Amino acid sequence: DSTEKGAFTWSSPSNIALIKYWGKKEDQIPENPSISFTLDACKTTTTLSYSKKESSNLFSFEVIFEGKKHDDFKPKIETFFRRIEVYVPFLKEYHFIIETSNTFPHSSGIASSASGMSALALCIMSIEKALNPEITESYFNQKASFLARLGSGSACRSIEGDLIVWGNHKHIEGSSDLFGVKYPFKVHNHFKNYHDTILLVDKGEKQVSSTVGHNLMHNHDFAQQRFIQANKNMTTLIEVLKTGDLNTFIELIESEALTLHAMMMTSRPYFILMKPNTLKIINAIWAFRKQSGLHISFTLDAGANVHVLYPENEAEQCIEFIQNELVAYCQNGHYICDRIGFGAKQL
Ligand code: PMV
Repeated sequence: DSTEKGAFTWSSPSNIALIKYWGKKEDQIPENPSISFTLDACKTTTTLSYSKKESSNLFSFEVIFEGKKHDDFKPKIETFFRRIEVYVPFLKEYHFIIETSNTFPHSSGIASSASGMSALALCIMSIEKALNPEITESYFNQKASFLARLGSGSACRSIEGDLIVWGNHKHIEGSSDLFGVKYPFKVHNHFKNYHDTILLVDKGEKQVSSTVGHNLMHNHDFAQQRFIQANKNMTTLIEVLKTGDLNTFIELIESEALTLHAMMMTSRPYFILMKPNTLKIINAIWAFRKQSGLHISFTLDAGANVHVLYPENEAEQCIEFIQNELVAYCQNGHYICDRIGFGAKQL
């Protein structure tokens, strides 16, 4: 009986924001809308085994990460369970074993919260479906995104692909602060199969956790302007995605990346999350773009690594440039070739 015990496995990708989420209200409500490319290669695979237990007031679970017991992940998951409990009241009726692994190396500086929390949310939804087989696929995906958001905001953009919007925007009907939705408008062929090569500049632990980072936007002198700007950038991006205007696309996403870092540099306390090699890579990309006329660009998340973005039809020359000139700036020459993907899969 699958309501007594069983196991579900999901593989869920990371995502990279083009318009950044930075700043939130209570209950993981974003201050501005964001949009991301779902990735393909950077994924977390999670198996959630469950067995009925005496109902009690405690959550009961073990975490096994890449084959080893990992008690240090428990507080984060405990917090996640506490936040979602009202929406999935069966959590305290089961004992869980959460076995999880990433396709990208641990402590590569790639945040596993988006892929990890979305994979776990999907496994929990599979139990809900076992208990209530009538639920539809769209309800399943929307609620998985809703639950993932409560684990880590950006995780709500990892359930589906290939372009996902999270946060209410006046021109995007159906957009919501509560869950990610598929980008509903026309997307030019230039953006199909877009590449993202992730250059691992600094594999250390994050200097600033995203929780701390989002909180720095409270009482930040430029916060309100930033939230207005993100909304405007979304309006511009809708047009750019339709027309395929790659030059404006590049200007928009590079500005978004630098603004994210500018917010951290101008908060109190302030942080510089780029490393010298981050700047060397950015300057090399700009010089190469000018000289080659290719549409290679970059974005950043809240760290020193660089995501190098380029369209499919220019991939060969861009990869050659990355290998010849940029990989030298990576820690131990380490980089990951990724591209736009289509969302999580049940295994
Ligand atoms: O999901 P969080 O709380 O880890 O925040 C992620 C924020 C950024 O990655 C910097 C931007 C984004 O929109 O993904």
